[in-house]
Amino acid sequence: MAARKIITTQVAIVGAGPAGLMLSHLLAQAGVESTVIEIRSRQEISETVRAGILEHGTVNMLVDSGVSDRVLREGDRHDGIELRFNGESHRIDFKDLVGESVWLYPQTDVFMDLAARREADGGDVRYSVTDTTVHDIEGKPKIWFTDADGTEYELQADFVAGADGSRSHCRFQIPEAHRKWYFHEYPFAWFGILAEAPRSSDELIYANSANGFALISQRTETVQRMYFQCDPNEDVNNWSEERIWDAFRSRVNGNGFELKEGPVIDKMVLKFRSFVHTPMRHGKLFLAGDAAHTVPPTGAKGLNLAIHDVKVLFEGLDSFYKTGSSALLDSYSDRALERVWKAQQFSYWMTSMLHTPADADDFSRARQLGELNSVVSSRHGKVYLAEAYTCLLYTSRCV
Ligand code: DHB
Repeated sequence: MAARKIITTQVAIVGAGPAGLMLSHLLAQAGVESTVIEIRSRQEISETVRAGILEHGTVNMLVDSGVSDRVLREGDRHDGIELRFNGESHRIDFKDLVGESVWLYPQTDVFMDLAARREADGGDVRYSVTDTTVHDIEGKPKIWFTDADGTEYELQADFVAGADGSRSHCRFQIPEAHRKWYFHEYPFAWFGILAEAPRSSDELIYANSANGFALISQRTETVQRMYFQCDPNEDVNNWSEERIWDAFRSRVNGNGFELKEGPVIDKMVLKFRSFVHTPMRHGKLFLAGDAAHTVPPTGAKGLNLAIHDVKVLFEGLDSFYKTGSSALLDSYSDRALERVWKAQQFSYWMTSMLHTPADADDFSRARQLGELNSVVSSRHGKVYLAEAYTCLLYTSRCV
């Protein structure tokens, strides 16, 4: 068998999702070389439907670092959301409460902008690789992989960034004695659809009802994204269009509000849980994004958190290559984890406040309505929600 071809770089990045590509882009801007490898094809990533809310810090990073300003032109700025419960809507006015907004701009578009920018800048991004194994993270890191043509490589690097998503292989390189995992499971999942229908609302609606949670989001003028709470073992094939719309109607319609319906063009069950891997660094390996943590989707923190990790990791790598000091790399895990746990708290809180467990007793249901009423009737309650939703991860401009 032919010997592996050797490639050397400064930072090897595993995973070409938004975290991996953003890191590669920022490093390139600072004159640091990287090679990104990814097991999925570029097309497969572009076609995966993902969440859609960006904090202003994420938008700023895309725009200010020169990835693209498409988010400002084609994304929708949202100045608030609606919390809907007991048949009534309550607006959480982000602008008024904390002077902030978020942008509805799907993660798929973030990926496409980053992939296009890396390509235009001649970045070394290799999609559709196989047989990836990471070696020697405590010494001189190497990654073995086979490219789409079947050629075998050894990628040698100073550092490895593990941005390989929630099914990360990189994290298993950290010896068991040096890692701690935190898990929380939820007794529900989301049934997500894309529907050909006009917008039902200008802003997102997070609805709680005795029948469970629903989220009304958007994609375009003619295609909408919506979710309702379901059992984690639900089979999409058991759900006809009529049954799907019935589920939405029973959770959001009422008191003059009616969802606009249309053909369902995609349906899927999204399982979720809370997970944190600590520490986020071992030896020369740094985990970023879903490889190190996942949050439940309520509140849309996942992508923003991944981009925040990348910002902190980039600062550490940039400082190391500019000054030779590893101080910021050494504090990467602690600095990133501070935000991770804030995002875990917010996502857990939004999830438990808005979902209704199938076995909820009368007390827990009435208490939940008490909690929702407490939030919407208190300016401080609304400010906490608005602050966390809009700028939990980037505190530069929030109250
Ligand atoms: C979307 C997803 C979320 O998890 C959320 O909290 C808001 C919006 C979306 O897909 O549009």
